[in-house]
Amino acid sequence: MRTEQPKMIKLTEYRLPDYLIDETHLTFELHENYALVHARLLMQRNPGLDETLPPLILDGQQLELVDVALDGRHLTAVEYQLSDSHLQVQPTHSSFEFTSTVRIEPQNNTALEGLYKSSGMFCTQCEAEGFRKITYYLDRPDVMSRFTTTIHAEKQRYPVLLSNGNPIAEGEGENGRHWMTWQDPFKKPAYLFAVVAGDLLRVDDSFITMSGREVALRIFVEPENIDKCQHAMDSLKNAMRWDEEVYGREYDLDIFMIVAVNDFNMGAMENKGLNIFNSSCVLAKAETATDAAHQRVEAVVAHEYFHNWSGNRVTCRDWFQLSLKEGFTVFRDSEFSADMNSRVVTRIEGVAYLRTHQFAEDAGPMAHPVRPEQYMEISNFYTLTIYEKGAEVVRMLHTLLGAETFRKGSDLYFERHDGQAVTCDDFIAAMESVSGMDLTQFKRWYSQAGTPQLSVSDSYDAATQTYQLHVKQSCPDTPEQRNKQPFVIPLSMALLNQQGESLPLQLHGESAAVLGERVLAVTEAEQSFSFIKVPEKPLPSLLRGFSAPVQLDYAYSRDDLLFLLQHDTDGFNRWEAGQQLALQVIEEVVGQLYETDEPMLDTRLVEVFSALLAQEDLDPAMLAEFIALPSTGYIIEQYEQADPLAIHQAREYVSNQLAFALKEPMLARYQALRKVSLQTPYVAQASDFARRRLQNMLLAYLMRTEDLEILDACVDQFGVADNMTERLAALACLVNSPFTDEAEHALASFAERFEDDPLVMDQWFSVQAAAALPDGLERVEHLLKHPAFSIKNPNKVRAVVGAFTQNTPNFHAIDGSGYAFLADKVIKLDALNPQMAARMLSPLTRWQRFDLHQQEMMQSQLQRVRGSGDLSADLFEVLEKSLAV
Ligand code: BES
Ligand code: ZN
Repeated sequence: MRTEQPKMIKLTEYRLPDYLIDETHLTFELHENYALVHARLLMQRNPGLDETLPPLILDGQQLELVDVALDGRHLTAVEYQLSDSHLQVQPTHSSFEFTSTVRIEPQNNTALEGLYKSSGMFCTQCEAEGFRKITYYLDRPDVMSRFTTTIHAEKQRYPVLLSNGNPIAEGEGENGRHWMTWQDPFKKPAYLFAVVAGDLLRVDDSFITMSGREVALRIFVEPENIDKCQHAMDSLKNAMRWDEEVYGREYDLDIFMIVAVNDFNMGAMENKGLNIFNSSCVLAKAETATDAAHQRVEAVVAHEYFHNWSGNRVTCRDWFQLSLKEGFTVFRDSEFSADMNSRVVTRIEGVAYLRTHQFAEDAGPMAHPVRPEQYMEISNFYTLTIYEKGAEVVRMLHTLLGAETFRKGSDLYFERHDGQAVTCDDFIAAMESVSGMDLTQFKRWYSQAGTPQLSVSDSYDAATQTYQLHVKQSCPDTPEQRNKQPFVIPLSMALLNQQGESLPLQLHGESAAVLGERVLAVTEAEQSFSFIKVPEKPLPSLLRGFSAPVQLDYAYSRDDLLFLLQHDTDGFNRWEAGQQLALQVIEEVVGQLYETDEPMLDTRLVEVFSALLAQEDLDPAMLAEFIALPSTGYIIEQYEQADPLAIHQAREYVSNQLAFALKEPMLARYQALRKVSLQTPYVAQASDFARRRLQNMLLAYLMRTEDLEILDACVDQFGVADNMTERLAALACLVNSPFTDEAEHALASFAERFEDDPLVMDQWFSVQAAAALPDGLERVEHLLKHPAFSIKNPNKVRAVVGAFTQNTPNFHAIDGSGYAFLADKVIKLDALNPQMAARMLSPLTRWQRFDLHQQEMMQSQLQRVRGSGDLSADLFEVLEKSLAV
């Protein structure tokens, strides 16, 4: 809890650490009501600084100091200074040994940061600043040390004792206790430290690295989950192979461990040799986890594994550089997912997520650059901007340099900086060295916040066969920045003729044409590109593959979009054309709904969907993407001030019209797909994901017709399915339908069947919390009282409260009750888990995006939270920023 006003930490105030820690020796004595942590630190004055000996100021929070000594001499109370956040002592030699003993209470740690208990086991979460809640330390990423860790605990309750690196000794103690010592040969910052003690089973496997070394792979879970580890293990081995093949990176220890825990604020954590995972990101089997969950497991396992190089071997100098490891690693994991699944579908999903959520962040009060300049609470900066936009920045470098040169750059980066804590500038410098490019202007992507707007217009001169693209870029002001300078924007493009073929591309002044597509580097605020020898007026296909994280504006007519949807040779842009078309149609209906209850749907949308459904050779994965309307969240982002209720209603109207108009072909297609599903055993692979996705999407459309035969099919799919993907989709259809008896029945049978599986119950919760039905709030209040719900478990909070914030008609209810509900939950959460409280508040911080009535109600709830008492630094920072506007 907050005891003083949180301070701003500034990038410009970075200073090298006064002291370094060569060796860290930790001993944990774990008990039911407390734990003792003994630390012995071999320290020295930083040799890069002068020879004076300034006071040693160690970080430490919520620690009870039992003992402190320098070079073995115990200090009396006058020889050290203690505050809420620091311990200060005065060294007398340039090299010395600092020892301390502290007492902590993991069993009472509900913030899930530091050492805590989850379902009876001890575990840790140290990133970003959790280690200071374990012992007094220099808890900053540029202090890297060799760790040796001994854990003592009762043997029966905690047979498994783990830490980073390799096991080097173990033994039995008195009173049924035992101990184990682990040593990590690699220097690391404290945020990568981990310990685990619990009653766990493990799945074993091994991997032979590219140089022929055998690595033991172990996944530790609670006994009841032992049958849900295979997919994570397969994903891990695929990730290890991929990192060798694509980046030349080999694993470096003899053992790699993953532990699944039920209470975890994030998805997973890359602790050296001992990754700790939210159980939702490890456990997956057909009967209990959806295809989406399987894909999430694959991506998260890979992401954390990839950090072993991009994050651990080369780490961040300070937390302003967070995107150095996170942006790069997200780029790496998304490329891995693209290689394991369908590349274009992976890209479509990634872009849809970025544009809905990161663009919203960049347009709101929390907007910040990929490399922020200041923060109060670093936990608030694990944002979509650091992660997703950061990954897009790396992707743009990959596009500008080409795959081969980019690889040389990453090799050089790892070689130059192995074992170091570095900055985003160091990463760029490696890319400059190998490419010979000057990336000074490109680096504005790291320093300037906000989503650039790229406005493109064109003109064609038949007489000279010249085609001109006129490009203008601008970037809106953001809370701490105005008057942005132009970015370097890689604009991937092609020109299509009336047959949909791409024309050769020859710019004025060039001696030869490029076939297919090319990347234009937009660097000025206004710029023109002149193409010669263009035989007819072309239609441009712009920003192919979403080559830059910008808002593209080109005045495509609906007929242009229809043409691109059917003919563009870039799969991403085909999808994008369909999305823009659907968006135009929905926006039109939004306008009509203010005038009439019976809007007119542009029938061209129905016709093109019909044509797509009839197209036999179309990849089902692409068809599923094409017929998915843009999400409500994305549509909201297209308005200066959105009316969420009207948008929801319009989107529903369009969906219903499509369902009624296309019922026959949809049903035929659904039945064919369902038949294949019934005959095919579950496999977690892209082609099967695609089939089930399309099948379920068709079912959702069909259920809108309220046809009783379709209801039967839905009930049947729900009851018969051998996998969670089909079962949960059918459940969601029933819950959202007017068939309340069938819905109640399905919910009850589902709960009965899966009541002992918390991750499945999370899905049961979310389906209901997200249902756009009348009385949504009452239903959600009811879910909170369910015995399987706990506000202390982040997955449960996300499943109920988080899902509710995506429930447009209920969260944005006209009486403000949805906003008040969220505010209440945030206040309650803040006392338990500040990180979660601050995260859950974010939908309310987007108030400026909505019309005035909603704005006022959202702001007044923010004010109510602010006035609610003693706030955490996490929540305080988010509130200050969102109310400052
Ligand atoms: N290093 C983070 C986990 C983390 C974040 C710990 C913030 C503490 C505070 C980890 O590598 C990560 O980024 N995990 C993501 C999943 C990933 C696939 C993007 C997460 O937890 O959501
Ligand atoms: Zn990460």
